[in-house]
Amino acid sequence: MSDNPIFSFRTRAVHAGHGLDPSTGAHATPIYATSTFGYGSAERGERLFAGQEDGYFYSRLSNPTVRAFERKLADLEGLPEAVAFASGMGAVSAICLTLLQPGDEVIFVAPLYGGTTGFLHEVAAKFGVTVHEAADEDALDALVSPKTRLIWVETPTNPRLNIVDLARVARAAQGVGALSVVDNTFSTPALTRPAEHGIDLVMHSATKYLGGHGDAIGGVVAGREDLLTELRLVGLRHVGASLGPFEAYLFLRGMKTLPLRMAAHCEGALALAQAVRGHPALAATLYPGLSDHPGHEVATRQMSGFGGLVSLELGTRAAAMTFVDGLKLFTQAVSLGDVESLTCHPASTTHALLGDEALLRQGVTPGLVRLSVGIEDAADLIDDVLRALDQVPAQPETVSR
Ligand SMILES: Cc1ncc(COP(=O)(O)O)c(C=O)c1O
Repeated sequence: MSDNPIFSFRTRAVHAGHGLDPSTGAHATPIYATSTFGYGSAERGERLFAGQEDGYFYSRLSNPTVRAFERKLADLEGLPEAVAFASGMGAVSAICLTLLQPGDEVIFVAPLYGGTTGFLHEVAAKFGVTVHEAADEDALDALVSPKTRLIWVETPTNPRLNIVDLARVARAAQGVGALSVVDNTFSTPALTRPAEHGIDLVMHSATKYLGGHGDAIGGVVAGREDLLTELRLVGLRHVGASLGPFEAYLFLRGMKTLPLRMAAHCEGALALAQAVRGHPALAATLYPGLSDHPGHEVATRQMSGFGGLVSLELGTRAAAMTFVDGLKLFTQAVSLGDVESLTCHPASTTHALLGDEALLRQGVTPGLVRLSVGIEDAADLIDDVLRALDQVPAQPETVSR
């Protein structure tokens, strides 16, 4: 049913990408734990290898369980094709190594996930690619040129949860014949479908909300058929960061409840942000669903919910550390998007490699804490956060909250 446009997102999350297993009638998609597939005859083998016939022959390139995950994600993003990878970073590296060549330029709207900027600066740059950092989407027009090949953004951004206007990014890329890439990990297709705003490629760390249960690492890219064929035949085949069928099974299972989980994450995060804002220990509460968030208006247009991440500014590193150590229901751990609530202090963990100057430029202040709000009862999460905030000294009178 994956191509049937009459079904709603919630129905497609359950059904898209798979049906009864053709060989056994199994209702749940089986885990095809096999590296290779017999092709029967030398003639068929030749056709499969030449791409003249569709079929499976080696799981580095394609596997039925993985294929079901790819089809479901493509359907939910409203795009014709998808290719899965062994991790989000596998997806990032495959996009760059497939689509970039020496002399090309990449522009990213800062901040991006540290691994992505690390790949651009430390790997892509080694191969003669020039990388530009834009402070926001308004800065793109001054940086684009005929050499621009990719414009890369995330929204909401990590960890300050800035909102990037995707239609604006798509226009900037189209103006110079570049491709726009959105890392949709934080929003998921349940809340934002970048292709509806003209974006060319949509990628995910499936490790986060797509899986949703913190038990598998994976990545995926969706887009036009020609681009995705290139990505499979170059970025997947030659680089080889292929998703395993066990992980694909977990992502398929997780995605069936994606709309329900995202609704619960959004509800909990909004309730939490509203309940804690104005607490004397806080200098700021950052959540795109709050009307005073600078990206609120664009988020209202672009997203059908404001996401499950809330960031809190506590003013100093000591206050931030006291706060996270005081939390009981939130596990101190990197990653996000799990059903369980997680928290981290980005400046000393996920973003530490950026160095002091870039940390400050990108707003990753020593007092900032990121909360990934799980699907527990919001009242329990709010109690936990308020109790931990009460252990932190109040902000100076001069700080406006
Ligand atoms: C927004 C974003 N993109 C990409 C990645 C990388 O994904 P993975 O850890 O699955 O390689 C992460 C990981 O935290 C992320 O948060």
